[in-house]
Amino acid sequence: MADGGPIEPGVKTLDRVRPTLPASWYYDPAHYARELEAIWYRDWLCVGRAEALPRTGDFTVVSVGTQSVVVTRSAEDAFEAFHNTCRHRGARLCRTDAGRFRNGRVICPYHTWTYALDGSLVATPGRFETDDFDAANYTLYKVHVDTWRGFVFVNLAETPASTLPEFLGSETDALRNWPLESMRSVHQEIIPLACNWKIFWENYNECYHCPRVHPELCKVMPVYREGVFDAADLPGWQPAYDGDKGFGTVGNGAETWTLSGKKALPVIDGLTAREIEDGIAFASFTAAMFVVGHPDYVRSVCVLPTGPESIELTVDWFLPAEFEPDEDDVKSITELPMLVMQQDGEVCELNQRGVHCLQHEQGVLMPQEYRCGDSTNTFAQGSGWTRRNSGAPIVASRLQPRHDLFRARNLRQSPSGLKLGVTFAAKRISPIAQVAENSFNMPPAIPGTDME
Ligand code: FES
Ligand SMILES: [Fe+2]
Repeated sequence: MADGGPIEPGVKTLDRVRPTLPASWYYDPAHYARELEAIWYRDWLCVGRAEALPRTGDFTVVSVGTQSVVVTRSAEDAFEAFHNTCRHRGARLCRTDAGRFRNGRVICPYHTWTYALDGSLVATPGRFETDDFDAANYTLYKVHVDTWRGFVFVNLAETPASTLPEFLGSETDALRNWPLESMRSVHQEIIPLACNWKIFWENYNECYHCPRVHPELCKVMPVYREGVFDAADLPGWQPAYDGDKGFGTVGNGAETWTLSGKKALPVIDGLTAREIEDGIAFASFTAAMFVVGHPDYVRSVCVLPTGPESIELTVDWFLPAEFEPDEDDVKSITELPMLVMQQDGEVCELNQRGVHCLQHEQGVLMPQEYRCGDSTNTFAQGSGWTRRNSGAPIVASRLQPRHDLFRARNLRQSPSGLKLGVTFAAKRISPIAQVAENSFNMPPAIPGTDME
């Protein structure tokens, strides 16, 4: 195959190396703008949990690229989403990241045009009457919204290419026995990372780094010590039972993803013996989120880009609603994932800093990084650049000249001279993601060269 095929049928690893995406795609603002249009303004994006908006009129504001979106509960079982922009002269409607629209009314802070929760314009106080004004022409700009098992998604496309169920696809099957809709978030972390969103997903999509970066996790997941996710990627792998797909599972006597490998909490009702024994089930919905089911808890990670070189993760830990965890319970299920995310965050940020090298036009994928190949091709195609079709790397001449980018970067260097290291700075925020507005227009953090 032109871009690297499998070693043998059933084995997914590549039989030859292949190039990564061009280095500039990980920091070029123009390419980021293309990706916003092609991917982030077209795909379904997870913006939180239904339970975080319990009352009619509760709202949250989410930033996606340059766009600010308001999501509100419009009725007991319904949500509405609209752009955070007034139809009069375009002022921002919401000045806070979360709150409640009192009396079911969205009131613009500028000239007090007033909208119902469905977006219809219901009052224009102080407006002089004219014959040509029809309020029906000035409803809020709608954004598509839908839910999946308690998660709220939006889609900024005028006409989404797929429904939410179509977008999620069969990946949801892996978690069908976990009672996601009735589970409750018992802990949330908002994690800003100074890396391009593709670097985050590429790191997620390979375990080549696991033996060195995640020694604690490798004790729980022995297959990761081999630098692969799945046992089926190892040479000579044979199914151990009927239906064995060789997915990576816990081992060495481990039961779940905790530092000790042991469950500290009760097994969730409804799981099969196989699901309990495997100890882990992944469902990935690139680029919006992934969800991980364990026998005793569930973790979700939602991803939103905040700039060409920055993302924000919203991470939730879920337990069955009837379970009232104490501090030790929460600690038992959060400490290993937090450690792993911190380790991943650090290498993602190192990766981001390194790709700025003037001589680094492109990296190279090793055989076990085959999922990165899949994802980078998807990203390339999604953003309108086709490498798979030609079988050849994108040529540098199609990209912004590197010296221009270098100059632009220098202009954006922090004037404070602060040493910018890994920015993993998790903090608890509830009930739903708090995302800085207008982050697209902020200069991205440009890491210095000092190592911590
Ligand atoms: S801009 Fe909103 S009422 Fe004038
Ligand atoms: Fe990792």
